[in-house]
Amino acid sequence: MHDMDLARWGFDENAVVLVTGAASGIGRATALRCAQAGLRVACWDLDQGGLDSVAAEIHLAGGTAHTAVVDIFDDHAIDAAFGALEASWAPVRHLVNNAGPRSVDPHGFREAISMAVGSMEAMIQRFLRGIDAAPSDATEHASVVSVSSVAGNFTGSNPPWYPTAKAAIAGLTRALALNEGHRCRFNAVAPSAVATPRMTSYSQSDAGRRWAETNPLGRWADGDDIARAILFLLSPFAGYVNGVLLPVDGGQLLVL
Ligand SMILES: NC(=O)c1ccc[n+]([C@@H]2O[C@H](COP(=O)([O-])OP(=O)(O)OC[C@H]3O[C@@H](n4cnc5c(N)ncnc54)[C@H](O)[C@@H]3O)[C@@H](O)[C@H]2O)c1
Repeated sequence: MHDMDLARWGFDENAVVLVTGAASGIGRATALRCAQAGLRVACWDLDQGGLDSVAAEIHLAGGTAHTAVVDIFDDHAIDAAFGALEASWAPVRHLVNNAGPRSVDPHGFREAISMAVGSMEAMIQRFLRGIDAAPSDATEHASVVSVSSVAGNFTGSNPPWYPTAKAAIAGLTRALALNEGHRCRFNAVAPSAVATPRMTSYSQSDAGRRWAETNPLGRWADGDDIARAILFLLSPFAGYVNGVLLPVDGGQLLVL
């Protein structure tokens, strides 16, 4: 049996993880858990105030965070920010592909697919370039977790671009797991409804409360419920898990 530190989820001390959408919700919770596991955490988002807040919380707990305002829908911005991160810190060994457009945003179908799926693919391609350029001991246990959804994979939802994009993220994960497994493991999570800021008006409504009553666990997920599942898939503890889409839904799929 390999000797893996339980408190660190088996991660190498000071390895670098990059979390997109780290200023809020699932991304914020994931950044905090990654720091707790001893990783250096690069937090990217559009929201400077939210980034400052998550970095302050990580530093207060004795962790290390690096923040950058990066629009992950812009390939040039991704490339520039990766370059800056690699120059100031180290190769990125773990990637949490979390940020994506909100289903309530008024995007056209093609534009939204490009934003939601194209951005995750662009992040992964730039991440793999960094992995290839790094010494092999700096890339051991490399891993990517992308945030998909039950929508598109197990259920339908509106607008149509949202489930389409989330199904495509699962397909991309499987294709990369098959073809690039020698470089890195690729997995995805499929949350159902999560009480994050984008869902506040629904989660606090009567309809939202009724939804929670239908869930086998009788409650909404919070960001940390999803973060802990992400951390497992990202970590060396999941060293032989590759290409899965893990529902994190409290058993909601059983009642559909
Ligand atoms: N909340 C849910 O019910 C739910 C369910 C299933 C899947 N998801 C997925 O989880 C992910 C995170 O959702 P959340 O609920 O935590 O959302 P959230 O709105 O709380 O946080 C998303 C963060 O991403 C950032 N962001 C948005 N566009 C960005 C961009 N172009 N570049 C950089 N950062 C950007 C936002 O500023 C925000 O801080 C999304 O991919 C979403 O589709 C959410």
